[in-house]
Amino acid sequence: MAGKEHFEKLQALIDLEREAEKAENLRELRKFPVAQREARGKTVSALIVDGVEGGMGGMTMITLSRPPRSGEELTPFHAMNAGDNVLLTFSPGNLPGSVEGTLYKVDDHRVTVALNSAGPEEEIRGHCQIDLLGSDATYQRMRKALVTVAESKRSRVSTLREIFLGEQEPERVKVPKVIWFNRNLNEYQQTAVKNSLAAQDVALVHGPPGTGKTTVLVEIIRQHVARGERVLATAPSNIAVDNILEKLIGTGLRVTRLGHPARTLEALRHGNLAAQIEDDPAYEEVKELDAYRERLIHRKSRHGRGIQQLGYEERQLREREVGKLWRQARDLEADIARHIVAGANVVLATHAGMSKRYVKGEFDLVVLDEASQASEPLSWVPLTIARKAIFAGDSNQLPPTIYSKEAAEGGLTVTLFDRLKEILPASAQTLLRVQYRMHEDIMRFPSQEFYEGKLIADDSVAKHVAAELPGVAPSDLTSRPVTFVDTAGAGFDEVWNDMLESRENKGEAELAVKLLYELLGSGLKPKDVAILTPYTAQAKLLKTLAHENGLEIGSVDGFQGREKEAVILSLVRSSEAGQIGFLSDMRRLNVAITRARRCLIVVGDSATIGRHPVYARFVARADELDSHRSAYEWIGS
Ligand SMILES: Nc1ncnc2c1ncn2[C@@H]1O[C@H](COP(=O)(O)OP(=O)(O)OP(=O)(O)O)[C@@H](O)[C@H]1O
Ligand SMILES: [Mg+2]
Repeated sequence: MAGKEHFEKLQALIDLEREAEKAENLRELRKFPVAQREARGKTVSALIVDGVEGGMGGMTMITLSRPPRSGEELTPFHAMNAGDNVLLTFSPGNLPGSVEGTLYKVDDHRVTVALNSAGPEEEIRGHCQIDLLGSDATYQRMRKALVTVAESKRSRVSTLREIFLGEQEPERVKVPKVIWFNRNLNEYQQTAVKNSLAAQDVALVHGPPGTGKTTVLVEIIRQHVARGERVLATAPSNIAVDNILEKLIGTGLRVTRLGHPARTLEALRHGNLAAQIEDDPAYEEVKELDAYRERLIHRKSRHGRGIQQLGYEERQLREREVGKLWRQARDLEADIARHIVAGANVVLATHAGMSKRYVKGEFDLVVLDEASQASEPLSWVPLTIARKAIFAGDSNQLPPTIYSKEAAEGGLTVTLFDRLKEILPASAQTLLRVQYRMHEDIMRFPSQEFYEGKLIADDSVAKHVAAELPGVAPSDLTSRPVTFVDTAGAGFDEVWNDMLESRENKGEAELAVKLLYELLGSGLKPKDVAILTPYTAQAKLLKTLAHENGLEIGSVDGFQGREKEAVILSLVRSSEAGQIGFLSDMRRLNVAITRARRCLIVVGDSATIGRHPVYARFVARADELDSHRSAYEWIGS
């Protein structure tokens, strides 16, 4: 069966990817200072060894802790989870030096690690540091999902598998007249909703930037819930899941979002399962159990001694009681959670954050947003519990990040969405065409290059410019939707930053900042502007040059799915050789340009980028719009 081979190949690819991620983390570990890694949650230093004991199967388990620090915003282990691979390093001169392990239990300030190699014989002393080598939980879920899909027979999953491999046609039914929840949907959006209702197995919503993919998914969800169905809404990233949640809150549906509350936007926390558990009336009993347990821990014995000073037997008894109370409280909490999840019309989670602990049974519908950002194995995680799936995505935006070159070349960058685009009949696919973000001059170039010229700007945005924003004065930059500032001949050369393994261009960065202050001088607010660049080193350099409250400076990749009134894009590349490397991925250019609503300023060297035909057309287009300026207009002024 072709399917078997396909899933075996995917298994092999994710194994390669897991190894590559681990190797990359090790490399970073050797390269970056501890403080930098610690800030990102990849390292926790100054840990004290609380205890070492034998665990299951002769494993050595070591427990480490670090007391809370005042003013600490995030707890030390905030980015680590049970199942992650870690490296333990003991202070110099202490055994066992460094050793790999797996996180076994993770609390706010304490972890237990199972050592991978046989444990150290010597007594462990001194301080210790933990470094994250890679999260294994996601790989385990992907692996499990792939096995489930490959092996299932005569079930919904096996039907979806056959359709997704092109071995079977998806089914459709006739849809009765739809009564719209969102009356503002345009004709393409309405067609997408109707196609999804007609589909019995799967449908795709293709949407260029700003065309309302998430808006359409929300209508699809509401229509299905109105028909008595239960829906799971997922996306690869937390921010994308929050985007759906934000649009669902206020619809009157019962929704619950799984995942760590710390990874949900503050304003949406009340939609998180953890917050909902605490709001449940039954939670009172959990609180009572916890309070009783606390009292028991601190209660002195008849002889005025604390639990630590009790005799062996009494202490054992007390600890057993404390443990029992703890488990009772957690069991009760889990019951409440299952009850909330079972009663929800819509459950939301990231693909990898789908916990089987609370989620039972199948969903009538699974919607997958940002589908072009999720690898195929990752998409299968929610699909194993789907009766029907609706995907929304855009193959012309950036694909998932893959560490392993071999895995990428082997096909891991091809998403399920990409494959389905080729396999599924036209009736199961809809292209959204009206966008609600960009001035038509900003839109025209990406539309022609990437969407066969099919994009339409809604009247509400087609002519909007920055100069129309309150308090903004008209100027050459603010009255013009697109400006290309050409650095050709200005002597701004790119350089390679070895530490960051990325490129930067100081002259260009300074020019970009000059343009920024010109925009701000015209009255634009910093929060309405972003400076974007494909290169992390350039982003870092820009951050040292411009400090404005609310201004965002970042990489193009990190800005996918977002928008700003004005965007300054710094392309960086400028050299005799004329290489453009990274910039030649047109999906990156597409994402970069389509972040701007009213004002797009591109800074780059036409002599370098113009060697690529697409960039050459961009420059030609700027000429046509009379938008091609020379950097000399700003240099020395
Ligand atoms: N029919 C419509 N009428 C008016 N505004 C709309 C309509 N559809 C979508 N919008 C608005 O357009 C903006 C983009 O919508 P949405 O976030 O759903 O797009 P998207 O395709 O998911 O974007 P992205 O590519 O960034 O994920 C939102 O502000 C949304 O409210
Ligand atoms: Mg969206």
